[in-house]
Amino acid sequence: MTVEKQKAHLILPGDKDVQLDVITDNMGNNSIDIERLRANTGYITYDPGFANTGSCLSSICYIDGEKGILRYRGYDIEDLVENCDFIEVAHLLVKGVLPNASERKNYQMLLNKHSMLHYNMQNFFRSYPQDAHPMSILASMVASLSAFYPEMEERDPEENIDLTVTRMLSKMRTIAAFIYRQANGLQFVDPRWEYMYCENFLNMMFYTPVNNYHPNPVHVDLLNKLLILHGDHEQNCSTSAVRLVGSSEANLYASVAAGVCALWGPKHGGANQAVMAMLKNIVDNDIPVDDVIEKAKRKDNPFVLSGFGHRVYKTFDPRAKIAKKMNLTMLNAEHREDKLLEVALKLEEKALTDDYFIERHLYPNIDFYTGIMFHMMGFPQQMFTVLFAMGRTPGWIAHWLEWRHDIHQKLGRPRQVYVGPMERKVVPLDQRP
Ligand code: SDX
Repeated sequence: MTVEKQKAHLILPGDKDVQLDVITDNMGNNSIDIERLRANTGYITYDPGFANTGSCLSSICYIDGEKGILRYRGYDIEDLVENCDFIEVAHLLVKGVLPNASERKNYQMLLNKHSMLHYNMQNFFRSYPQDAHPMSILASMVASLSAFYPEMEERDPEENIDLTVTRMLSKMRTIAAFIYRQANGLQFVDPRWEYMYCENFLNMMFYTPVNNYHPNPVHVDLLNKLLILHGDHEQNCSTSAVRLVGSSEANLYASVAAGVCALWGPKHGGANQAVMAMLKNIVDNDIPVDDVIEKAKRKDNPFVLSGFGHRVYKTFDPRAKIAKKMNLTMLNAEHREDKLLEVALKLEEKALTDDYFIERHLYPNIDFYTGIMFHMMGFPQQMFTVLFAMGRTPGWIAHWLEWRHDIHQKLGRPRQVYVGPMERKVVPLDQRP
């Protein structure tokens, strides 16, 4: 990154010429440094949804939305999905480097060591209604970790961070599995020392004493790949929530819990669940795909094509391409057809030849095809966004750590454009009309 000698000139009313530094990042993208704008001019900027605002300097993830490029710490997502497992990618995101064989083994052992939940936490799960939305339980359980592992409460020394990061990464998986077990009236299954991250999760989800369950290696591989696809994605809504909460020096658990809540929404991580509901509705009611496309284009109703469109990608989301290929590979391997996938492929084909979608650069995003994978692996629809959160946890942790170590960062506190009432006096209660 360089702060070029180049200057941007902002000509304010009264012909005031304000010179602002131009920052050019490592990929040649330019930004205008407005850090001193209000102090020097009294002006602020207005940017709803922060679509044009860089909130930080970051070295974790890079997206080129026009070319459909996604890299974690410089590695293409395709390369990582093909050649790594989730533990390696979590290590890469959190520590900045891919582990060698012994580091990977040690990391795996450390995560397993911290994968149990405090016994008293288990009572919480049982007090939730069985039809509670999993994300409501996930958010509160993640925040509750700070009650049971309070080392983060004090102004923790850096060495504590590593332990807390490991606990967060590992216990997210256990909480996710326990949420499923509670919803289905099943006993909790503890993690096993001999299983790797994804095997353990599948076992904690689906094992019962009467089904002699062993994690299907094909599903273990697919889950590793799916969690990698969800690993990180620059300053998306939930990651920005984690950074903002972390900027108040709230502990990691509280910050990640904020990320869980932000991810829940159907415009963000909740879209994978919305995609599945949309596809099931089309299949169950035999709705013509053309009708669905036409309805998504109309503005007289709130329906949008879930899993389509993206704030940054204006071409195919590379993760959607990978997930689509994984779907097709899985079906071919199991000599199966899947009505949901058939409908998804038809929707994609229709949308990508329709001017409305073309003009707005609306393409399938990560959520369009991943839900079908989760469904084929036996996960209930209500769990999809929890799975997204599991994948995104190393990314959230990496950004929380990066904000914490960034000498430029301060408490996050945006400004506003005020459109409320002018000053007025209170009328005494007995005189109000
Ligand atoms: C994720 O940011 C990230 O990186 C997120 C994520 C990650 O990994 O963290 O990639 C994960 O959240 C993916 C997105 C999942 N959400 C969905 O699939 C929900 C459906 N998509 C839309 O809600 C929408 O595309 C957004 C929210 C994703 C992006 O919206 P923007 O960038 O704010 O764009 P917009 O809403 O201003 O849309 C521009 C136009 C509008 O029409 P016009 O006003 O120009 O007439 O496109 C239309 C929108 O109505 N539009 C859609 C549409 N998405 C946008 N129309 C129909 N169907 C859609 N899906």
